[in-house]
Amino acid sequence: MTSAAYDAIADWYERFASDTSADYMDRVRGQLTDLLGAGVRRRCLDLCCGTGVHGAHLRALGWHPVGVDLSGGQLGHAGTRLPVARADVAQLPVADASVPAVTCVLGHTDLPDYPAVVAEAARVLTPGGRFVHVGVHPCFVGAFADRSDPARAVVDSRYADRERTFGGWNPNGVRARVGAWHVPLADLLNAVTGAGLTLTGFRESGSTPIPDLLAFTATKPHP
Ligand SMILES: C[S@@+](CC[C@H](N)C(=O)[O-])C[C@H]1O[C@@H](n2cnc3c(N)ncnc32)[C@H](O)[C@@H]1O
Repeated sequence: MTSAAYDAIADWYERFASDTSADYMDRVRGQLTDLLGAGVRRRCLDLCCGTGVHGAHLRALGWHPVGVDLSGGQLGHAGTRLPVARADVAQLPVADASVPAVTCVLGHTDLPDYPAVVAEAARVLTPGGRFVHVGVHPCFVGAFADRSDPARAVVDSRYADRERTFGGWNPNGVRARVGAWHVPLADLLNAVTGAGLTLTGFRESGSTPIPDLLAFTATKPHP
């Protein structure tokens, strides 16, 4: 199970997220800023919070973040940065319609059923509340995408595969260690509309003109 994999690599991930990939994480946080906006001291659930690497940023935006993750190893680091709860994000121990914001950052490829998690986020959101997703770009990042030449991304037929993969990734990165589930673009967007949320904004980002991150925000309609 993915959480056990993260238990084993939590100290490595702590260095990776806070240091090795600092530029990448800065771009991730830029997307969070654009799509989540200011929080005026309201609660924000950060699903798959990992080591809590975005906790300080969420607080700086004015939110009161609470991290949720399944990995005790990851939460050992996160607990020094924000309040945390150990739980499966597909079954949140949170009341219906009780939080104004939910984020999921770099988490969707760790989850075998992301639509179920988006539905759970929608359940706990207050009407008018927002869900912000930041993830690897589903069209250009995956075992199916050869990005070895910065000028092009070559996508092969494995784009349609939804199984967990370990191969085809950077051998020194996260995915060679814990694997990843691929969620094709239409599945990702259908997960949001299927949960009854309204998509309201999108961002792409990359260190080259070919993006490696896709982020969006979606709002829970008022009844
Ligand atoms: C790639 S890390 C992302 C961590 C953090 N959001 C970041 O941006 O660095 C994915 C995280 O998802 C967590 N995770 C995987 N499956 C989960 C589940 N079902 N419920 C809660 N957390 C889960 C893992 O333990 C891991 O910490």
